[in-house]
Amino acid sequence: NKVHEHQFVVQASPVKRLCKTHNTITVNGQFPGPTLEINNGDTLVVKVINKARYNVTIHWHGVRQMRTGWADGPEFVTQCPIRPGESYTYRFTIEGQEGTLWWHAHSSWLRATVYGALIIRPRQGEPYPFPKPKRETPILLGEWWDTNPIDVLREATRTGAAPNVSDAYTINGQPGDLYKCSSKGTTVVPIDSGETNLLRVINAALNQPLFFTVANHKLTVVGADASYLKPFTTTVLMLGPGQTTDVLITADQPPSQYYMAARAYQSAQNAPFDNTTTTAILQYKSATCSKSPCSKSHHTKPIMPPLPAYNDTNTVTSFSAKFRSPRKAEVPTEIDESLFVTVGLGLNKCPPNFRKRRCQGPNGTRFTASMNNVSFALPNNISILQAHQQGIPGVFTSDFPARPPVKFDYTGNVSRSLWQPNRGTKVYKLKYGSRVQVVLQDTNIVTSENHPIHLHGYDFYIVAQGFGNFNPKKDSSKFNLIDPPMRNTVAVPVNGWAVIRFVADNPGAWIMHCHLDVHINWGLAMVFVVENGVGKLQSIEPPPADLPLNHPITEFRGCQH
Ligand code: C2O
Repeated sequence: NKVHEHQFVVQASPVKRLCKTHNTITVNGQFPGPTLEINNGDTLVVKVINKARYNVTIHWHGVRQMRTGWADGPEFVTQCPIRPGESYTYRFTIEGQEGTLWWHAHSSWLRATVYGALIIRPRQGEPYPFPKPKRETPILLGEWWDTNPIDVLREATRTGAAPNVSDAYTINGQPGDLYKCSSKGTTVVPIDSGETNLLRVINAALNQPLFFTVANHKLTVVGADASYLKPFTTTVLMLGPGQTTDVLITADQPPSQYYMAARAYQSAQNAPFDNTTTTAILQYKSATCSKSPCSKSHHTKPIMPPLPAYNDTNTVTSFSAKFRSPRKAEVPTEIDESLFVTVGLGLNKCPPNFRKRRCQGPNGTRFTASMNNVSFALPNNISILQAHQQGIPGVFTSDFPARPPVKFDYTGNVSRSLWQPNRGTKVYKLKYGSRVQVVLQDTNIVTSENHPIHLHGYDFYIVAQGFGNFNPKKDSSKFNLIDPPMRNTVAVPVNGWAVIRFVADNPGAWIMHCHLDVHINWGLAMVFVVENGVGKLQSIEPPPADLPLNHPITEFRGCQH
């Protein structure tokens, strides 16, 4: 097994998009950041040097971090941020995960531009569970703002209103042909007639679930979130932010150019969204050319695929219903800890000492969000993991409720108290090895939407999902305990619910949050603190010597009351 050493310099670099050059926060001057390619069983050592003017941390999205929770990255959960001028080395080993993950900043909205792919191939000498593709191409879907995304968040935090939507979506950092000043940089994915390419699709957008499709080609889904799946074919994917999907595409069409395209899946009612389309070009090498040498202008125009309507929830439902583990899964059948967790927004009354312009949410309120009526507040000068490990009191309380304070009914008969959650830094403690079930229920308060809920430090099985109120008697009989898919991020159906199960075999502090970034700022998060078990193999390793500690508050805290 190899050890891969990398240096990530976080720095402002000029990036030109949509006709304008921006001083953009990047890693090593690259946007998107470097792709890391490793094998299952390898160790990554990444020294992050912060030369930007913001605090930063890097999260290795989906990496299980077995006993290395200090390398997970979310600020104030597992570490204090790396301050400007400082550095921190993340060190962790991939154990048993294969497929596509990614890495991104986990502080403020820096992940708008600070992200990249993390590709995990099978162990040296071991094959894929599908015919080896001729090529592999990471496809990173992103969002681009014409202003500094940090300022977009700052403004939303100041006003309490929803943040501005993005100005473009991107594929591998490029908006593509359909946007102004963008055709030159459009991402081109070459392919030869007859050959197969493995597309590693990642939704790195900040706040938007996305559809993805390729004109005239079938996609064979073989994995998601670095777990293999029983292969199935589809023409369109939907990925919530945070999710990855590996698909095989075979060049079985007449040589030509075909657009790959991504556009919003927007299930929220009456919420503004960016309704533009980003494209890349799948280009057959033998595509007929009117002249030689063949340059772009000589090609025929790429063929545009149809995309589902922005509110096409049926397509999302039938897509996610096809996900199956390739073999019998080790799903816990007995449950020690059963939680019912509401996920949704709220509206806080304007505090009396606030000026009007700070309350520009609907009807003079401020947006908020919660799980079980707790709007999560990060600690501000120490991490939850450090406080837990060192027994430092006063940082968090261990009373995150296993169910909402009042009986929840999604149809709208919801007690007004759930509209105005209380802020708190509440964790839920789990004994090492406990078998956990979490029902995640969309609330339909303020709006209903598809929330991509991500759990750090774990992969979980999605044993069921559905619409309406989760009904324990009726719905438990439909649980798939045979071959449910394993993921690290579940797109909880709009107006619906999803049930996940996992075994708490990784001690540490693990945040579970909505991967729509603005929802984290509003408090749609909680933390599981998993206790050490018996002996070294069931305990978290000691913290690295260079772990950033006890750093002062950053200005980005979401709603302050
Ligand atoms: Cu990909 Cu907590 O994040």
